[in-house]
Amino acid sequence: MALGSHFLDELRARITISEVIGRRVKVTRAGREYKACCPFHHEKTPSFTINDDKQFYHCFGCGAHGDVIKFLMEHDNLSFMDAVEMLAAEAGLQVPKQTPQERAQVKEEKDLHGLLEDVTCYFEACLLEPRHSDALNYLLDRGISRQTIKDFRIGFAPDDPQVLRKVMLEKGYSDKEMIKAAALRPGKGSGKDPYTFFRDRVMFPVPDRRGRIVAFGGRVLPEHLRPPQRSDFTPPKYMNSTETPLFHKGRMLYGEPTARRAAAEGRVLILVEGYMDVIACVQAGIGGALAPMGTAVTEEQIITMWKIIPDFNKVPILCFDGDNAGRKAAGRVCERILPLLEPGKSVRFAFMPDGEDPDSLIKSSGVQGFKDVIKCAVSLFDFLWNSYTQGKSYDTPDEKASIKKQLENEIARIAHRDVQEMYRGALRDRISTVFYPPRQKQKFSKGQSYVAADVSMLPKKPRCGHEDKGALRELFFGLINYPFIFESVEEVLSTVAFKAPRLEQLRQDVCSYLSGAPDAGHDDLVHYLEDLGYAQEISDICNESVYVHASFCSPSANEENILSKWLEYWNDYNAAGLEEEIHDGWKRAYLDSSQQEEEKLRSLLSARTGEEGT
Ligand code: CTP
Ligand code: MN
Repeated sequence: MALGSHFLDELRARITISEVIGRRVKVTRAGREYKACCPFHHEKTPSFTINDDKQFYHCFGCGAHGDVIKFLMEHDNLSFMDAVEMLAAEAGLQVPKQTPQERAQVKEEKDLHGLLEDVTCYFEACLLEPRHSDALNYLLDRGISRQTIKDFRIGFAPDDPQVLRKVMLEKGYSDKEMIKAAALRPGKGSGKDPYTFFRDRVMFPVPDRRGRIVAFGGRVLPEHLRPPQRSDFTPPKYMNSTETPLFHKGRMLYGEPTARRAAAEGRVLILVEGYMDVIACVQAGIGGALAPMGTAVTEEQIITMWKIIPDFNKVPILCFDGDNAGRKAAGRVCERILPLLEPGKSVRFAFMPDGEDPDSLIKSSGVQGFKDVIKCAVSLFDFLWNSYTQGKSYDTPDEKASIKKQLENEIARIAHRDVQEMYRGALRDRISTVFYPPRQKQKFSKGQSYVAADVSMLPKKPRCGHEDKGALRELFFGLINYPFIFESVEEVLSTVAFKAPRLEQLRQDVCSYLSGAPDAGHDDLVHYLEDLGYAQEISDICNESVYVHASFCSPSANEENILSKWLEYWNDYNAAGLEEEIHDGWKRAYLDSSQQEEEKLRSLLSARTGEEGT
């Protein structure tokens, strides 16, 4: 729609650009202008200036320049019309519409927005009333700060089905409007009053991409805080508004306004499962968190995420539970995404440790714990590959052919020709490296790490960051499930020291036990370690979700491959530069290795290359 320059001039004149910018970055007055650190490039001393008279901003550092509309488009990552409408609302101007229908629709939507805004304010006020202190304390006890409660506008809906209606009728809204906005439900039976279906619930208002409230999610209080007369029936944990002209749950993403700003700042978008996950992430500084509205993610939501990301490469991370159900859900989403892939548009998959969601993980392992999981996210291709190969044997030609065919069928669903071609190529490569690793004899000379030369041919597991204990966990897990490999890995394990004190202690105890009990099995080792007080560590390490990244250590893995796989991970772990000490110790172990050890390593290696397949 073309907007007249007259309207835009009027809009710019009514808005004070320094105020709009000042709500997003810290500005300080400097004479007739304002100064700030530029939000469009990284700097420590301000070279970004704002001039209210001339109605523009200019950065002497990076050359960013424009009016208030351009600022909102770039900073909040909005379209031109969205930026204009947002500013018009602030300035009290009506964006000119062409047809009467458009005008009528805009008016109706505006009225509904106003109504839901008032409902939100009412719920917010209720949460702060002393008689609802249980609800507030529940949120505070869950670690949500007062500031976060304000930022997300969390509220409380009292137990009375009529009180919201009364308050809103007094404000001049009609039953009809309230029903249309899904703030009320029509009365059951004729002559019955409409009533609210959010009762005795913590309320999460759902903002649209411009921050206007369009719906609510309501969570029950935990049982001990609910009135006793209701404890005989179990209400659903969450309830969401029904669909309205403003709210289509398959299109909405909870957390979108914050995530848009984060994406505009170059941060990664992370799709999590629920309200509390988004809130916990954002509170912990992970601004790119978003969630669907209690359903599996839809095509539209994926496309929205791609649109929000301003780079050419748009690769949001989708988080799933690490258990079987989570992997199945990821598989279904993968199915949905394949036909949509385009150059620069994809997703990655991250799997939570067993029994955790992002909210609980941040609480138990800190934000770093969550970031470690995110760093281990696998590409769509790797996810596909893993889904058809993990836990499966592919020793026979039939098994290999079957896996190949199934993966080809998946790839055939990619609609974009180039992308499909690239996936085919990647599949050919992967098949030849994994199904048919080269048989060439390894050259082994002093100073060259034999494992590195060998495993460079194989696909690498996803690499984790410096503080990540995931890799160590996989290595320990492999060892705990298959203690018989200790004999061969004792050498490397005895020459290192881990940074994490508890893991280092564990390493020492495992080494000293297994070197004295060479025939010990999995159960013996676990019992021994539990007796030493490692029950917690064992349950952290021996966690099903580890198999997602490291199928080799699963109890159903092919025993013949354990050792070579373990060494591959070990090597990868070193190559990632995770632990300098390990690196040094490991090098020393090999550089100084005696003739006898060299023999041992070489026989290991030839055993490994003779095996084929993993
Ligand atoms: N959900 C829903 N209806 C339910 C249960 C869940 O719509 N009866 C949706 C909500 O959007 C919720 C998400 O699914 O945020 C995830 O649900 P769940 O994992 O059960 O809850 P959490 O998000 O972990 O919430 P909490 O931590 O408060 O228990
Ligand atoms: Mn939760």
